Amino acid sequence: EKGGYEHFMLKEIFEQPRSILDSMRGRMIAENNHLMMGGIREYENKFANAQRILIVACGTSWHAGLVAEYLIEDLARIPVEVEYASEFRYRNPIVNENDIVIAISQSGETADTLAAIELAKSKGATIFGICNVVGSSIARATDAGAYTHAGPEIGVASTKAFTAQVTVLTLIAMIIGSKRGTIETSKLHQLIAELEQIPAKVEETLKLDKQIEEISAIYKDATNFLYLGRGYNFPVALEGALKLKEISYIHAEGYPAAEMKHGPIALIDEQMPVVVIATKDSSYEKIVSNVQEVKARKGKVIAVVTEGDTTIPAMADHVIEIPETSEHLMPLLSVVPLQLLSYHIAVMRGCNVDQPRNLAKSVTVE
Ligand code: F6R
Repeated sequence: EKGGYEHFMLKEIFEQPRSILDSMRGRMIAENNHLMMGGIREYENKFANAQRILIVACGTSWHAGLVAEYLIEDLARIPVEVEYASEFRYRNPIVNENDIVIAISQSGETADTLAAIELAKSKGATIFGICNVVGSSIARATDAGAYTHAGPEIGVASTKAFTAQVTVLTLIAMIIGSKRGTIETSKLHQLIAELEQIPAKVEETLKLDKQIEEISAIYKDATNFLYLGRGYNFPVALEGALKLKEISYIHAEGYPAAEMKHGPIALIDEQMPVVVIATKDSSYEKIVSNVQEVKARKGKVIAVVTEGDTTIPAMADHVIEIPETSEHLMPLLSVVPLQLLSYHIAVMRGCNVDQPRNLAKSVTVE
């Protein structure tokens, strides 16, 4: 059932062109710029008039929530707060009947996320779920929702579920934004056209596998990694670091690149691999300076850049070139090389990639 792949995780990474497509199929018709999502229809006005949106999730799903914060605030102009379900539920949060809570969960069984939903519900909020497992506890506990159509995810490290979540959240941000009139029509049409091309661009990105395997061989014995990104790529930095920690047991930290100077920069020396996600977007010039800061301290830079970039390749030790797309959609591409990097490093270290120690696929304990 691994379809010829050595591990489920690798199979699932390679399934992403398909799982992203399946998650937007029937929800977006690019030819006539049409967006529709069954789960949202009934709540469209509620979403459009919401004073704020709270997102609750754990782990990788929480990272998808962070991407959604950037998307919804930019495209729909509604304030978004992204909460760890486990913190939200225990801190007497302020929630009321005007709030919409989006709960994100691959398994639909995460105990903390479920408890956060019950708490928000008891305070009258409307709960919208984004789950992968049909009929799961979280899917049943919500008022409405949209499934990710990623198919079963067996590898403990979440990969295709993340990109499916981001795809669904992108559609939601676009739907609310167009209802509220906060996205210009031309921009909406451009985003729809770009999203349509994402599965093919993920396919392109997957061709970098061999090159990433070579980079992995160089750094497999590192004891620490730093991941840096800004804007839409900041949550991707967190996700890249989490993937490495979980399956290779190498300590890794993800940081917003500009925060480096407030502490983590002290860690950088010639031993430290720093993965910088530095695609061409609105924060590009700023991240160029961050790469310079790392190089000035002799850190090893593995840069994920947009195809055709020449500035960062002139400074970085290794360059991974991914296709160009709108910055709103970049996480769907930029996360892929980081998934592959963690996968190959873990395999080279002899780790049990699909079932890392101490971890379970769904965390039903609190
Ligand atoms: C990371 C990972 C975990 C889960 C987290 C939430 O690769 O698998 O961090 O993302 O336990 O799980 P779900 O999405 O099932 O609620």
